[in-house]
Amino acid sequence: MAISAPRLLALLASVSMFAGTALPAHAEGEVNIYSSRHYDTDERLYSDFTDATGIKVNLIEAKDDELIERLKAEGANSPADVFITVDAGRIWRADQAGLLAPVQSEVLAERIPEALRHPDGHWFGVSTRARVIFYDKDKVSEPPQTYADLADPKYKGQVCARSGTNIYMLSLLASQIAHNGEEAAKAWAQGLKDNLAREPQGGDTDQLRGIASGECAIALSNTYYFVRAITGSVEGLSDAVERIGIVFPDQGGNGTHVNISGVALTAHAPHAENAVKFMEYLTSESAQSYFANGNNEYPVVEGVEANSAVEGLGEFTADTLNLSALGENQTRAQEIYNEVGYK
Ligand SMILES: [Fe+2]
Repeated sequence: MAISAPRLLALLASVSMFAGTALPAHAEGEVNIYSSRHYDTDERLYSDFTDATGIKVNLIEAKDDELIERLKAEGANSPADVFITVDAGRIWRADQAGLLAPVQSEVLAERIPEALRHPDGHWFGVSTRARVIFYDKDKVSEPPQTYADLADPKYKGQVCARSGTNIYMLSLLASQIAHNGEEAAKAWAQGLKDNLAREPQGGDTDQLRGIASGECAIALSNTYYFVRAITGSVEGLSDAVERIGIVFPDQGGNGTHVNISGVALTAHAPHAENAVKFMEYLTSESAQSYFANGNNEYPVVEGVEANSAVEGLGEFTADTLNLSALGENQTRAQEIYNEVGYK
């Protein structure tokens, strides 16, 4: 009988306290996964994979950037086979650091839309999130309809957004660079800064809380943070969700900026074959549901539905820019935020 992923995690955590390396590097019939995800439904995701293939899943969970540092430190001795993290900009960093290996898989190429995977198979999007505009229905009668609108002087002093060093903000600006060029992107960043209701601060939930508290009339946030507030109890936010409207920006234009939770084969994977099997399994219908629903995201495989709360946000057209552009323009995006003094 397979040991469940959390049980293994506990075992491995106790081993690592004495040994330094947490996972055996060359055992057969297993796959070692480094993941920054930590949702209840993931447990079922892993146990279903083991049931279907007989391949045991060993899981290491940590924060995104910690996992990248760990992979770097372990180098060729890393036991990791699969790396799971969020944001194409962050996966690009891991790729740039030489931590990932390309995968040629007909299953992945067929089931995952082209925009959501690296052109040479260095990483693959498994679920998507949209970065959208939220607004206070009581205060804003004509909410911004585009990302460009967020820089319109008519919204001066109303907009809340997080720091320009945050990967979500870097990826959004990187997409603006890809679509509109550097000059336009810089003007946008300047306009956004000029419209801020307060210094950039906090996470996405805090931008939404800003609407609840009255500090912000308009806020930028990823979709799943709002869904969490609708479906569960988020302090300082859930009580106010009725007052908060949502706009999927750039409909009729480039489409709404989306990003991914992504998966990649690691550069020194001891179980590369099993890793690819796991990656392909993530595109199965049931895995897509578990993976996307764990964080109220959108499945990437056609025909698989998001959960009803996510669907309830409304339909939208997503930007089809290949997400590699988020990485390629990341350095320039950071420079632009710095140049205009957007902190
Ligand atoms: Fe997030």
